[in-house]
Amino acid sequence: MSDINTIEKEALASIESAGDLGTLEDVRVAELGKKGRVSGLMKQLGGMSPEERKEMGPKLNALKTRVDEAIRTRKEALEAAALEAQLAREKVDLSLPPAPGPKAGALHPVMQVFEEIAAIFGDMGFAVAEGPDMEDDWHNFTALNFPEGHPARETHDTFFMKALEGDDAKVLRTHTSPVQIRTMMTQKPPIRIIAPGRVYRNDWDATHTPMFHQVEGLVIEKNTHMGHLKGCLIDFVKAFFEVDEVEARFRPHFFPFTEPSAEMDVKYTRKGETIEIGAGDSWMEILGSGMVHPNVLRNCGIDPKEYQGFAFGMGVDRLAMLKYGMPDLRPYFEADPQWTRHYGFAPWATPSVSGGLS
Ligand code: DAH
Repeated sequence: MSDINTIEKEALASIESAGDLGTLEDVRVAELGKKGRVSGLMKQLGGMSPEERKEMGPKLNALKTRVDEAIRTRKEALEAAALEAQLAREKVDLSLPPAPGPKAGALHPVMQVFEEIAAIFGDMGFAVAEGPDMEDDWHNFTALNFPEGHPARETHDTFFMKALEGDDAKVLRTHTSPVQIRTMMTQKPPIRIIAPGRVYRNDWDATHTPMFHQVEGLVIEKNTHMGHLKGCLIDFVKAFFEVDEVEARFRPHFFPFTEPSAEMDVKYTRKGETIEIGAGDSWMEILGSGMVHPNVLRNCGIDPKEYQGFAFGMGVDRLAMLKYGMPDLRPYFEADPQWTRHYGFAPWATPSVSGGLS
């Protein structure tokens, strides 16, 4: 069987010269496949005498192993080379400045406004807190002093979820206020947080979408009072709308989780299509606020005789509309690239109070 040596030489040579995985596979089939040459030799073992088989068996097995190993080694080398080539082809130089021409992607104005709000409150010492979009009834309502069956629960047009086995029924949170609860349950005062996020209500028309965005604020300290609430929010509105003065009023209102509660209105002027916030002859409501209700503090294990706090909540989509002159809420969630190109922001231009917000 001088065939063995010839076949081995030839097989190893064609393995070595296979320039791609396809050619290598052809070689494998030609040698080790069902009808391959090496397999053909192995088949001859059956017709041999026991002595012959004793001699040839190990030789043929060794041949098969060597060819098999050579194929495997070559395969690894070809795969590594292919990966190298792909990495070289897809190499991106992150230090290059962005290419000129049309922007490929843009930050949605709501995300931009989230960043701006975080920058402003961050400058005042607030941290950012988060909570889940799927809440339980206790965090969304009960702990926030909405009594069982209270009509205020109904004003929220809640999306109720089906209960999973062994779990309480959940709701899609109707406001970001449950993050107040989650924060007070896990942190000791003093607390200063804002909680930006998505909220959900079963409502759908020109000015309402079933999902929208809010930012909640919470301050819990020993001596904080309504004067701090007003100062903080007036400073925020000035910074956000980038104006030096804002005429504001706090109008009594009702929220179950604050007492007293107030809605904040600011003066504005309409100039054609655009609105200028700060001064003018009309009032516009921009947020809800109040002193945290003692029941809410108690529900979270905070002693209302020792601590008090203020809270506020605002709709971010509307703030973005007002600041950037977007007339309609509906295109916000239509993912139309033309709209995003027009109203979107460069993703790398992080807003800061000192470096500029917008
Ligand atoms: N959660 C209220 C809403 O969705 C907004 C709000 C009002 C939040 C007053 C507050 C607050 O924290 O004090 O309508």
